[in-house]
Amino acid sequence: MTEKNIKKYFDNISNSYDDNRYSDTADQWHAYFFSERLNIARTFIKNKKGIILDIGSGPRFLLQEDINKENKVIVSDISLNMIKLALSQANSQTAINMLGGIELDTHLLPIKSMSIDIVVCLGVVTYLRSPDSAIVEMGRILKKDGTLILSLTNSVSPDTIIRKLFKKIIKIIKPVFPKKLIGNRVLFQDFKVQSFTEKSIAAICSSCDLVVEDIRYFNYTFFPFNIIFKKLSLKLAAFLKHSSNKSHFVRRLASDMVVLARKR
Ligand SMILES: C[S@@+](CC[C@H](N)C(=O)[O-])C[C@H]1O[C@@H](n2cnc3c(N)ncnc32)[C@H](O)[C@@H]1O
Repeated sequence: MTEKNIKKYFDNISNSYDDNRYSDTADQWHAYFFSERLNIARTFIKNKKGIILDIGSGPRFLLQEDINKENKVIVSDISLNMIKLALSQANSQTAINMLGGIELDTHLLPIKSMSIDIVVCLGVVTYLRSPDSAIVEMGRILKKDGTLILSLTNSVSPDTIIRKLFKKIIKIIKPVFPKKLIGNRVLFQDFKVQSFTEKSIAAICSSCDLVVEDIRYFNYTFFPFNIIFKKLSLKLAAFLKHSSNKSHFVRRLASDMVVLARKR
């Protein structure tokens, strides 16, 4: 999918984005996935100080309750509608010190090198044409000892492998698939599933002076069972999450991860 189409897609879903993912009325699986990711990012950003750039912020800076009042926040996105929403949300949140919003493409950040203390990028890289170059850009703009909080898809999880296969099949059958069923569902869009291993992310990071300090895995549900048997999938996910404390192998079954990296 081209950047133009990605922008169009996210502009179109901007008003319903939050309600469908982070509200009490969100779908059970969405609520599970997005809150797991957010909780990890929360622990990573705690006590970090300075200017925060949220790349692909969507309609809201999600970590507003987890940062100090001294932090300054810049929201940014390829979708102008998302930025407008994020800025209007911030206006009603006296607690956050919002510096502004930037319409940008992550592949080429219009931001000075070594000028940002914390880069947050959640749920974006999987949609990118060239994720490696986008991560290098994030490394470039971070100050020395700056923090990167980045969510990624795990290459080796069964969920990722099945979803990649499903996408290939969808590409073939999409032209004859009822449009009503496709709707705005992410799975049916032409997004590639960009994914990483611990080794590959460490290599990209080291190429731009970033050191991976922590990786936390999340989402132990597996497509398509997480759509067909939601309740059962979520129960199994809770069990696997619990087991992942003890087993290195189980941890890698998770479909996604949040990486904490520091600029050297
Ligand atoms: C799944 S949403 C994530 C929103 C929010 N960060 C969250 O965690 O809920 C992905 C966001 O990335 C933005 N995005 C997609 N491609 C982008 C790009 N190349 N540059 C900047 N933002 C992009 C989209 O417009 C969208 O708002």
